[in-house]
Amino acid sequence: RQQERDQIVKGHEFAAKLYHYILNNSAEGKAALDYLRSRGFTDSLIETFQIGYAPPRWDVLAQYLEQRQFSLPLMEKGALIAAKSSGGGYVDKFRNRVMFPIRDARGNVIAFAGRTMGNEQPKYLNSPETSLFRKSRVLYNFHAARAEIKRTSRIVLFEGYADVIKAWSAGVHNGVATMGTALTEDHALMMRRSAEQVVICYDGDEAGQAAAYKNLDILAKAGLDIKVALLPNRLDPDEYIESFGAEKFRRDIIEAAVPTDKFKLIHLRRNFNMQDNEAKLRYVRTAIREVIAHIESPTVREHHLKELANEFSSISSFETMKQETNEIREEQQKKRRSGDNNDFSWNTVMN
Ligand code: GTP
Ligand code: MN
Ligand code: MN
Ligand code: MN
Ligand code: MN
Repeated sequence: RQQERDQIVKGHEFAAKLYHYILNNSAEGKAALDYLRSRGFTDSLIETFQIGYAPPRWDVLAQYLEQRQFSLPLMEKGALIAAKSSGGGYVDKFRNRVMFPIRDARGNVIAFAGRTMGNEQPKYLNSPETSLFRKSRVLYNFHAARAEIKRTSRIVLFEGYADVIKAWSAGVHNGVATMGTALTEDHALMMRRSAEQVVICYDGDEAGQAAAYKNLDILAKAGLDIKVALLPNRLDPDEYIESFGAEKFRRDIIEAAVPTDKFKLIHLRRNFNMQDNEAKLRYVRTAIREVIAHIESPTVREHHLKELANEFSSISSFETMKQETNEIREEQQKKRRSGDNNDFSWNTVMN
């Protein structure tokens, strides 16, 4: 078993080298290299992340592995190649894609993400799950980021591979990403074992912000202190860095990330038309009920209430907002107490 794993890893390491070589040194790689450069991927980044290119031919990797005496059935098990549907032989899994090697926590290449350079779907093709590649447990770039994560006790969580890489070039060396799949409890615990704080730095679009909101609980449950970075104009981190530069990204996005409560208050605004007085009123009431009333610290509650009262002074006063908050808290406590007696009321109904 261990020997099989070693062989599959070795196959991936060879594949990464081959794809990287083809990108840098072949005529077919030229378009991919141009594509990467046009997106701001420098030679040094291409080197550091061992980015490569899988050419359109259908068995480049299969032939290469065969020449080097790899067991092809084993390489199929590792999802590098696939058996032809008819006749014998094998075909490559990835064709005509820019290749990003994915490493496990020890730095072994165990999978790939391949990006189209055009508009084909899917945009990213990931290796399927194998005995080595469990998407619910792998964080892209965790191995390389580990030193900086330890040093800062902080981890920056991105949505995409491109964001991690571009952030790295901007001096953010503690960035990781999931495989485009959901963030799991395993991911969160893995993060917590090496850091106290996580900065969620997802795309500024609706999907990214909704995903950030959705992941708050799972990260909090793992015991992580959470900050959320806010990206303007629906930009993703990669695009932001291309437009505004590294320093501004670090200062205005990463360092300016806000705590969970603040993020929730900002996120909630999307549902209300703030030009409209009635909507403003509904926002204030919802913010109090859904966010502020749930905050345990009276000081933090008061802080947010003051900000809310300042901004919405035409709607209501600080004192009134505070009163409403307290009433809602009492109501919620009552509910919780009666919730504890659920068994009792159940029995009464049944009898
Ligand atoms: P670029 O367009 O290269 O900048 O990618 P991005 O990282 O901005 O992609 P996007 O925000 O659309 O998606 C974020 C992440 O979701 C990607 O890095 C992938 O991990 C994943 N993802 C995006 N599109 C696909 C897809 O078509 N299939 C799969 N399996 N994953 C995807
Ligand atoms: Mn190289
Ligand atoms: Mn996105
Ligand atoms: Mn994106
Ligand atoms: Mn992007």
